[in-house]
Amino acid sequence: MQKKATIEVSEGFPFYFPEITGVVTVEAKGQINICTVAMHSHVSFMPPMYAISLAKERYTLQMIKESGEFAFHFITGDHASRFREAGLYSGKDMNKFTTFHIPIVPGVATDAPILEEAFLSLECKVKNIVSVGDHEMVIGQVLYEHYDPTMYREDGALLRDHLNVAVHLGGLQFIRVGEEK
Ligand SMILES: Cc1cc2nc3c(=O)[nH]c(=O)nc-3n(C[C@H](O)[C@H](O)[C@H](O)COP(=O)(O)O)c2cc1C
Repeated sequence: MQKKATIEVSEGFPFYFPEITGVVTVEAKGQINICTVAMHSHVSFMPPMYAISLAKERYTLQMIKESGEFAFHFITGDHASRFREAGLYSGKDMNKFTTFHIPIVPGVATDAPILEEAFLSLECKVKNIVSVGDHEMVIGQVLYEHYDPTMYREDGALLRDHLNVAVHLGGLQFIRVGEEK
């Protein structure tokens, strides 16, 4: 094996790719918004909790603080351009849904819009917000899920044959893994 390179990361930007990027939606004071998020994870099974990490200046963060809720979405590789577009422009300046023709339906447990193109959407109520360096980690309790049943087994595991996700390699590079049959 090639000798590994090492870097001191106390002040630098560490390597941590690949990652599966998702998108967050929110509604506050009658306005809706969408934002690309690479920093996300489930953080508790019972009760089910999902966490996202947003830079302090994100408009999406401000809106989540106002509404106390959000939805997190996983999108197939077919719709990966959404990651780029929702992550390049701010909802402060435009309605990204109309500008980029992103179809939505209303949420059930929250007012956060649900993406028609997502294969998994988690509707969450904010339980806690923790300041983490230059980001704030928003921890939400998952109240409601929307999923594409053709992609999942009954026990909730993702069906291998239907795996079709965009993997973020860093910068604006994505590759598609898997194909829908
Ligand atoms: C691939 C990718 C991943 C991103 N991940 C995050 C993230 O995890 N947290 C974050 O705060 N911003 C992240 N961003 C940046 C925001 O999506 C971007 O600043 C967005 O325009 C903010 O929108 P808003 O101002 O409407 O909130 C990411 C952008 C891209 C392209």
